[in-house]
Amino acid sequence: MSATLTFLLNGEEVEAPDAAPTETLLDFLRYRRGLTGTKEGCAEGDCGACTVVVREIAPDGALRRRTANACIQLLPMLHGREVVTVEGLGGDHPVQRAMAEGHGSQCGFCTPGFVMSLWHGYETGAPVDPASVADQIAGNLCRCTGYGPILAAASTARA
Ligand code: FES
Ligand code: FES
Repeated sequence: MSATLTFLLNGEEVEAPDAAPTETLLDFLRYRRGLTGTKEGCAEGDCGACTVVVREIAPDGALRRRTANACIQLLPMLHGREVVTVEGLGGDHPVQRAMAEGHGSQCGFCTPGFVMSLWHGYETGAPVDPASVADQIAGNLCRCTGYGPILAAASTARA
């Protein structure tokens, strides 16, 4: 008998025993959980609009955190892991405030993905010099802001 697909979603244990092997995390979040903060842009892993953070315990017992594109993250691969979406930040995290107050968001479609990439950097203590932040958001595309305010938000959030 196989184990039921179980993982943590924003701190809540969820089960998906009926998940198809090809069901994506993005579809699960948006259509089965109503978590529409995670956006669908390209649906093929190129734009970062669907960025979430996955936490997992590595074989050496260490906590590992990584960003993931929910549109190409298959749900069954999350068994025993934790997923944090933009809703899990609660709306008033320093990264979110820095993005809003520093005009790092215009149309807003890319914003949840950028917030999650910046939050990953915040949580892991990644450097906030421009080159390092550029690396952290390398998988996220924005058509509106020109990136300057988004880069600035990373350091503003730590101030
Ligand atoms: Fe573009 Fe997922 S929707 S990377
Ligand atoms: Fe419009 Fe980034 S704010 S795509």
